[in-house]
Amino acid sequence: MIWTVCRGENASKCSAAPNNRFDCAPEKVLNKKECEARGCCYIPVDDSLGSGPPACFFPPDYPNYKMTDFTETKYGCTGTLTRTKHTFMPNDLMKLHMDVLFETEYRLRIIIKDTTEKRYEVPIETPKINQKADPVQYDVQFTSESFGFRVSRKCNGNVLVDTNAAPIIFADQFIQMSTSLPSSYIYGLGEHLTSINLDLNWKKLTFWNRDLIPREDANLYGSHPVYLGFDKDGSAYGVFLLNSNAMDVILQPAPALTWRTIGGIVDMYIFLGPDPKTVIKQYQEVIGFPFLPPYWAFGFHLCRWGYNSSAMTREAVEKTRAAGIPLEVQWNDIDYMDAYRDFTYDHERFGDFPEMVKEFHKKDMKYVLIMEPAIGNSSPPGSYPPYEEGLQKGIYVTNETGQPLVGKVWPGYTVFVDFTNPEAHKWWHDMFKAFHEKVPFDGAWIDMNEPANNVHGSLDGCPDNSLENPPYVPDVVGKVLRDTTICASSFQNISSHYNLHNMYGLFEAIATHNALVKIRNKRPFVISRSNFPTLGRYAGHWTGDVESTWEQLYYTIPAIILCNMYGIPLVGADLCGFVGDASEELCIRWSQVGAFYPFMRNHNTKDAKSQEPYAFSKHAVDAIRKATLARYMLLPFMYTLFYKAHTSGETVVRALFMEFPQDQNTWTVDRQFMWGEALLITPVVEQGKTAVTGYFPAGMWYSPIGVSYNFK
Ligand code: GLC
Repeated sequence: MIWTVCRGENASKCSAAPNNRFDCAPEKVLNKKECEARGCCYIPVDDSLGSGPPACFFPPDYPNYKMTDFTETKYGCTGTLTRTKHTFMPNDLMKLHMDVLFETEYRLRIIIKDTTEKRYEVPIETPKINQKADPVQYDVQFTSESFGFRVSRKCNGNVLVDTNAAPIIFADQFIQMSTSLPSSYIYGLGEHLTSINLDLNWKKLTFWNRDLIPREDANLYGSHPVYLGFDKDGSAYGVFLLNSNAMDVILQPAPALTWRTIGGIVDMYIFLGPDPKTVIKQYQEVIGFPFLPPYWAFGFHLCRWGYNSSAMTREAVEKTRAAGIPLEVQWNDIDYMDAYRDFTYDHERFGDFPEMVKEFHKKDMKYVLIMEPAIGNSSPPGSYPPYEEGLQKGIYVTNETGQPLVGKVWPGYTVFVDFTNPEAHKWWHDMFKAFHEKVPFDGAWIDMNEPANNVHGSLDGCPDNSLENPPYVPDVVGKVLRDTTICASSFQNISSHYNLHNMYGLFEAIATHNALVKIRNKRPFVISRSNFPTLGRYAGHWTGDVESTWEQLYYTIPAIILCNMYGIPLVGADLCGFVGDASEELCIRWSQVGAFYPFMRNHNTKDAKSQEPYAFSKHAVDAIRKATLARYMLLPFMYTLFYKAHTSGETVVRALFMEFPQDQNTWTVDRQFMWGEALLITPVVEQGKTAVTGYFPAGMWYSPIGVSYNFK
């Protein structure tokens, strides 16, 4: 009899449809016995091998926090969350404090953190409010017995976020919160190689900035824990989890989403829109509007790894100019350096480096060079002052013994600048200034700033501690946090690298931006590989080491659209691709798409075939020139768009759904894109095609400016 009752309870308790299950064994695979021992349901499904519904999942009565002391405050309301039973995660917090801030009419913020101990919080400035907004467009309802919150639109009751989907877990190194989604259309959660609308079929998106040739299902150079979605009536909303720790976001077809981060606090912003452009603007009101680059930033840039001397660099400039391609900015990669060390140049191969740059200036061109955050530490004493001065100032990331952590990058053994230390900013500025006095460069390219490291962690490995081996490791490439970067437990001025890793490039960008402004007293130009929310205030981004393939050419379109949504409008991909040889046809097509990237740079790796426009036939040069000139004709329009981005949080490049959200056909278009609200670009991104079919939303469309090229 008792047995029957138990079975009956279990059957209904565990009756969630596979797509509505939330994983109760995120950190390891459990068998039935182990799963049930932690109080969860176990029902294997055919395709539960990692990428489908979990076999072990939460029952509805899994112990959760209970909310008490609910109080209205000047800013919104607060409550205390307590749990009486521990979860399966070590060091879970039994008592939490929740703060709900009605920040503006359309922006709600919910903060959940420890009641006693101060935990790490993301060190970026966000708007502060003096009192709660009234009236507001949202309603928030709380479930007190088994804590959860539901945010809906006041006008029609449409639910946008509902964390009642699964219990909340808040442990020292594991915070998990799930929400049901109002529709399957969500966009963002970069940086990943994806189509514009995210795939909800049990996809895991991992955030841990990393140096990697972009590929699907991998953590890449940047982390943006923010998404825009459509609700059931087609109105747009946004959600931003301000958290910089390593993280997984799990998307499932319910539709639902699970945030799973391994540190910090819950600091969630919800934007009510109601249209996509407004959502992005509301998001940028929190992270800050993008910087306004100098006008020359929008011209054509030329670079490659392998311009091994000033003579080769000059030759590239001359040949490009002779081909009639307007060349605004010439670049050099690490080749210019002496033994790949920052603030040096090779006096043999680049003996007349300063003169070369001055010559470019006389031709009305600008010049940009690369800088690395890893500083060579093995030069003979007295021969490389930048390293020694930095050492004396104590500006490097340190290891458990308090010594600078040593890794390996281009110069060989290196230490890593800790840009969260204000002293490092002063040193960086001074080094830039001294070098700029010799070589009057106009902008900086900051690379390898995830930071990348050719040894895992450090030369001595990493200590065995809870930061290196957390109870849950997000699905990072390499399976451990230290893979191709520095030890998570290394020390930075304001916290551990474990907390700050995803912001390493951001802090370097701030230092570089400020140094350039001070030195040149002009609008700065900085392009960074690593990126995190607020980067756009200081720098642009390029999409890294993309391969010279047609597939990658297509993926650059969603990448550029999404980066604009993250408030980084100055973005481009290496024209013709970086890794591998580009065919003439691919390079023409890539240049035609690239003519409409906000940042247009042809860049190539060391051992690939030349891919400057002049490396191809006259037909190719004609086509690339035509596309580039079409861009130049439109530059005033682009400049205006940048001004609007800078002053009011608009995007420069945008998806069709930003302009035509009421037309659902636009919601998945990512082979076309727009400049502002008026120009629709429909490029050829497939091999062998001489025509392209595009989608034209209802309205009056005028004939294109032809950048076409006939391959016959
Ligand atoms: C990295 C960069 C690439 C650069 C190379 C050498 O791979 O992403 O753009 O050319 O390093 O500096």
